[in-house]
Amino acid sequence: MTRIGTSDLNVFPLSLGGNVFGWTADRDASFAVLDAFTAGGGDFIDTADAYSAWVPGNSGGESETIIGEWLASRKPQNVVVATKVSQHPDFKGLAAANVRKAAEASLARLGVDAIDLYYAHFDDETVPLEETVGAFGQLVTDGLVKNIAVSNYTGDRIREWIEIAERTGVALPVAVQPHYNLVHRNEVEETIIPVAEEFDLGLVPYYSLASGFLTGKYRSTDAAGHESPRAQGAAKYATDAGLRIIDALEEIGQAHGASIAATSLAWLRAQPTVAAPIASARTVEQVPDLLAGARLELTADEVQTLNAVSEWTPTHA
Ligand SMILES: NC(=O)c1ccc[n+]([C@@H]2O[C@H](COP(=O)([O-])OP(=O)(O)OC[C@H]3O[C@@H](n4cnc5c(N)ncnc54)[C@H](OP(=O)(O)O)[C@@H]3O)[C@@H](O)[C@H]2O)c1
Repeated sequence: MTRIGTSDLNVFPLSLGGNVFGWTADRDASFAVLDAFTAGGGDFIDTADAYSAWVPGNSGGESETIIGEWLASRKPQNVVVATKVSQHPDFKGLAAANVRKAAEASLARLGVDAIDLYYAHFDDETVPLEETVGAFGQLVTDGLVKNIAVSNYTGDRIREWIEIAERTGVALPVAVQPHYNLVHRNEVEETIIPVAEEFDLGLVPYYSLASGFLTGKYRSTDAAGHESPRAQGAAKYATDAGLRIIDALEEIGQAHGASIAATSLAWLRAQPTVAAPIASARTVEQVPDLLAGARLELTADEVQTLNAVSEWTPTHA
């Protein structure tokens, strides 16, 4: 188990990504993935109010609704659900009144009394940060939200958020969710991890598997032959440099009887401040690799080998 920052959230060190629910996993497939994840010891689920509004016919909130129905049906003990605000088509941005309405809508879809971990999904510079920080603080004061967090914020804006929260005496963020994995390192390591270290924030990386590239199933930058809507985004990493990372993961994984996917998740867990990488599974068959990634411990030499082979990663790759 791992503690998220200074919070009292003590979770399984791998968070199940919820953007597949209502997208590439229908309700039954989503229930099966959630069942397999929790049966294997998982207890931390990541979603957002906007998932999966981009799918034709959807309007946003589908993932939260599926998770809510699953919670009502299974009544699991101690499952931690994180969700996010600012991207739902009906609740865009981070103005105070919108944050309140969006949180209430998320609570209704999830069917819970309080949100365990509530993220500002993307920064909204059209609203004074003081207003947003106050709105999140009020949600905690009123008991709608237990812990707050930020996603896709720059290091400077996270500092600003914390400075405002300290000055105005409202709840501080406990976690930060950036795009971070073996093929997307520099920006996070240079600008976000130092802030997380300074303020005791738990890092909860997303795209932990680089949309599937870090499972080793993409060996060419040509996505042809892969049906997943994630294929284009994943295959682009299959350059010579990217495939050297896959080869190193494969060799290190073999020494542990672990898959490439599990080994790449274990590398993330070994990075400073990382509490729990997020990865999604479209099918039950994909879940065991995620669970294994939460348990595999790499040696310092193995982490160093992976650091070295992935050092080329350009900022914003
Ligand atoms: N904060 C943000 O702005 C933000 C942005 C994006 C995502 N997220 C969060 O992060 C989560 C993860 O992101 P993601 O799902 O886009 O990327 P990801 O975790 O990097 O990739 C997951 C995908 O890899 C494939 N996969 C997983 N396990 C596998 C296995 N064992 N073998 C082969 N393929 C496997 C599956 O896709 P296929 O089967 O289709 O190949 C799966 O959906 C999301 O669900 C969401 O909760 C947050």
